[in-house]
Amino acid sequence: MTQLDEAVSLETLIRATVPRYTSYPTAPHFSAEVGAEAYGELLDKATVEDGPVSLYIHIPFCHSICHYCGCTTKATRRYAPIEAYVEILRSEIAMVAARVGRRRVSHIHWGGGTPNLLSTEAFEAIVGDFHRFFSIGSDTEHAIELDPRNVGEGRARFLRSIGINRASLGVQDFDPTVQAAIGRIQPAETVAASVEHLRSAGIASLSFDLIYGLPEQTVSSIQRTVEAAIALAPDRISLFGYAHVPWFRANQKLIDASKLPGSEQRLDLERTAHSSIAAADYTPIGIDHFARPSDSMAVALSDRTLRRNFQGYTTDRADTLIGFGASSISRTSWGYAQNVADTGNWRERVVDGRFATERGRVLTAEDRLRADVIEQLLCFFDVDLSATAARHGAAMSVFSADLEKLTPLVHAGWVVADEGRVRIVQHGAELARLVASAFDAYLGTGGRHSVAV
Ligand SMILES: C[S@@+](CC[C@H](N)C(=O)[O-])C[C@H]1O[C@@H](n2cnc3c(N)ncnc32)[C@H](O)[C@@H]1O
Ligand code: SF4
Repeated sequence: MTQLDEAVSLETLIRATVPRYTSYPTAPHFSAEVGAEAYGELLDKATVEDGPVSLYIHIPFCHSICHYCGCTTKATRRYAPIEAYVEILRSEIAMVAARVGRRRVSHIHWGGGTPNLLSTEAFEAIVGDFHRFFSIGSDTEHAIELDPRNVGEGRARFLRSIGINRASLGVQDFDPTVQAAIGRIQPAETVAASVEHLRSAGIASLSFDLIYGLPEQTVSSIQRTVEAAIALAPDRISLFGYAHVPWFRANQKLIDASKLPGSEQRLDLERTAHSSIAAADYTPIGIDHFARPSDSMAVALSDRTLRRNFQGYTTDRADTLIGFGASSISRTSWGYAQNVADTGNWRERVVDGRFATERGRVLTAEDRLRADVIEQLLCFFDVDLSATAARHGAAMSVFSADLEKLTPLVHAGWVVADEGRVRIVQHGAELARLVASAFDAYLGTGGRHSVAV
């Protein structure tokens, strides 16, 4: 019996725990088969492709850790550890650049943690390195994740001066009771002020992160949060389902689990937020994003160029993503490589002149085929299986068992599977992960996940 064989009630189905598929195979299936040497080989192989590459820089530091946080980061009030980290980061950038050569860059993304904790000198030095080693043009998208609690007027202007042209702000929830329950006190005025600073500085493309499924959230409180967010008119909104994984993130033990909404309430919260955002003229994108109809992400959805990577949905079409910093993940057409997460261990390896890769995955032809199918389902809620199989030189028969798993969803009228295509015709945002999981050859063999909604 598989998950999808169960009686079909949407509420039952969404209790299934399935991956978010920001990669396929997913990170729990990475192994030591990819170390420093194999990463070098993946990079060498990628040089045959002449398109641009993307760069991701991970800054694993925050002033304090929010109770709900699932990111790889640690708390520091001192600058010394960050300064030391930046020095190693620059060595890593030089080492990787020496291997890949001067490639054109389509996207740069600073994530964390809180990248904005870096000093102006540190930002300037790293961006200077990027210009020295790579080809960065005026069309390069340069994005940063920002904590609205530390974006002042001068800082916003500085970020624009080094080329940042897009920012995502961790808004999470505007309700003071929810904020207290999640250890993230952030008055609405603080968010409004940072938006104002970024816009006046010329960083016009803004995205907000909101989370549903948090303790103390109610349908009316999330409705108010969404209204307050929309009043600030971000270009994009991400609506993440709170992933409660205290066995994996010890800080989440500070969340009172008895205050967490149950699965039906989570569904209500998601639907309330989803429909209010969509009603305010945002195009729903995939399982958890929204964008103004004129935004490049909404355009990418309609012209089917939208992609999904470790940062979620993206307009970035580069085949190679190079990750810098502890725990960062790199991807080429041939595989994934993840740096060791422990900053001390990462430092030792880089100081030794080695790539800090600890694990990863070399993709088989079948992995690439399934990754393509899963990415299309997550982006577009449909996939032309015969065309995709043909593109990968495979036969449709490879999907026979997968298609059978979808039968209950087909009978429920939510999925149509015919003429070599699979289309999710109802409840797409809720069901896409589950439908995608039918095509996951490794499902059930790699650890615990959070619930689908
Ligand atoms: C690196 S943080 C964003 C930047 C900045 N550190 C901040 O908090 O504002 C990335 C985003 O991940 C989301 N996030 C973090 N932990 C989460 C969790 N356990 N479940 C769902 N989303 C989570 C939050 O929306 C957060 O804004
Ligand atoms: S949510 Fe952001 S600020 Fe809070 S701990 Fe996580 S990365 Fe740091």
